[in-house]
Amino acid sequence: MQFTFPTETQELATLRVDACALILFEGELSDNPVLRALDQALSGILPGLLEDEQFTGKKTQSFTLHTHGKVGAGRVLLVGAGKRKDFQLNDVRSLTARAVRMANASRTRSIGIVLPELEPQHAERVAQLVTEGAVLSCYQFDKYWTGERKKPSVLSDVIVLPGVPGALSGSPSSDPAIKAAQVRGVARGQAVAQGTMLARDLVNEGANEMTPRHLAEVAGKLAKERGLDLTVLGPSECRELGMRLFLAVAQGSNEEPRFIHLTYRPSGTPRRKVVLIGKSVTFDSGGLSIKTSDGMLDMKMDMGGGGAVLGAMSALSQLGCPDEVHVICAATENMPSGTAYKLGDVLRSMNGKTVEINNTDAEGRLTLADALSYAQEKIKPDLMIDFATLTGACEVALGPHCAGVMTNTQDASTPLLDAARAAGEEMWPLPLPERLSEALKSDIADVKQCGDRKGGCLTAGLFLKEFVGETPWIHVDMAGPVKATSESGHHSKGATGFGVASIIEFLLPRS
Ligand code: BES
Ligand code: MN
Ligand code: ZN
Repeated sequence: MQFTFPTETQELATLRVDACALILFEGELSDNPVLRALDQALSGILPGLLEDEQFTGKKTQSFTLHTHGKVGAGRVLLVGAGKRKDFQLNDVRSLTARAVRMANASRTRSIGIVLPELEPQHAERVAQLVTEGAVLSCYQFDKYWTGERKKPSVLSDVIVLPGVPGALSGSPSSDPAIKAAQVRGVARGQAVAQGTMLARDLVNEGANEMTPRHLAEVAGKLAKERGLDLTVLGPSECRELGMRLFLAVAQGSNEEPRFIHLTYRPSGTPRRKVVLIGKSVTFDSGGLSIKTSDGMLDMKMDMGGGGAVLGAMSALSQLGCPDEVHVICAATENMPSGTAYKLGDVLRSMNGKTVEINNTDAEGRLTLADALSYAQEKIKPDLMIDFATLTGACEVALGPHCAGVMTNTQDASTPLLDAARAAGEEMWPLPLPERLSEALKSDIADVKQCGDRKGGCLTAGLFLKEFVGETPWIHVDMAGPVKATSESGHHSKGATGFGVASIIEFLLPRS
């Protein structure tokens, strides 16, 4: 997809595109000069049309208008943006996505998008947001569609027009600094979108294909393309390192586990060493503490954390990151069988701590605990962040769109929360209350695997904290936002690719 920012004034009459989208604020239609020009070209039918359609510019409203050759654009797409006072820069992403979805409905190849008036200082962000919105709204997991249904978007040209009263683009900028900012913004947007789509593809794929071995192959391909170092450990190597928690989860499955470790090294001296751990349970049946059929339905997505860190790594290594970045995916299935781990088992973790198992469905924290121990022993990072679809309780607490963020170092998590806000992903801080650790006391081992229902996402966080020590660490429980139940904005139904955009925003400074 090509993005252009014209440097000459564009008029509605002459702008040659298949569709031209106008982003319109509620209650500001009558004094919009572009609409007036459009109305003139259409011999005064517009007010009646808008009245008929009850289009006033509300946030949920949109309306496609055929122009019958009266202006340069074949169609004009009216996209309601809601009240101007509620408008935020981040809305550019979802507004663009809505415009592009409307355009795709009529198999459009080129689209002009007239944005609200925005300050030139935001040029890079705006270019990035438009790019993310346009590319991500064309995503569909269509690999398994056959026949008529398989119709990928044909959109190839996006012309971005800054909204200026009186023309589609009244004072287009030829300032080289702004041009450069737009080029950077598009590149960044493309990388975020590609990384997010990689994560979506991995997470949407069925567990029959997306096995631990397959995930390791994906990492291998990424390593080759981006010149990353890759270590993949099989069961015997994990046993030698003492990863008995990770291996216990894997032992009920016929699929072999893979411990995946990817490393990106910047060209200069690294600013710091960051480890990104992604929960990579490729299918979570619950094991012997088996889930209900409904509870298992989406459990191919239990490697959403792994998808996010791999997608982010793809983008980071492409754009060049000042940090040394390590990605770890302890990939395994969680299955019931005659060889499965059992309730009451006591297991020794990689760092020596013993764990009493009381629910084999709390498998994620076991895989993460050994990954955290590995990271500290082998990498000695300045910061570790884990992304995990860890608890249903987190979704109950924060709703389906928001991830819970827990940490042992408040100073470390604040920039991540800020980055998430800038990236348009919802994350919210949760506590790790010392008193709640009582719930993890075991009579027979150092620690019990899980507490009761109360504060289920917090006790999961407290369990992980047992394996962290002094290293700054952030835990992101993304059980809710890993998936979307309906299409909306730049999200399609299914996997969202949650986490990729925030990681990039967090690790890549802007020039
Ligand atoms: N993968 C699940 C968590 C999950 C639930 C993710 C719903 C996405 C949607 C995790 O392994 C799990 O089963 N957690 C248990 C924890 C409990 C046994 C302490 C849960 O949430 O019920
Ligand atoms: Mn589980
Ligand atoms: Zn799980």
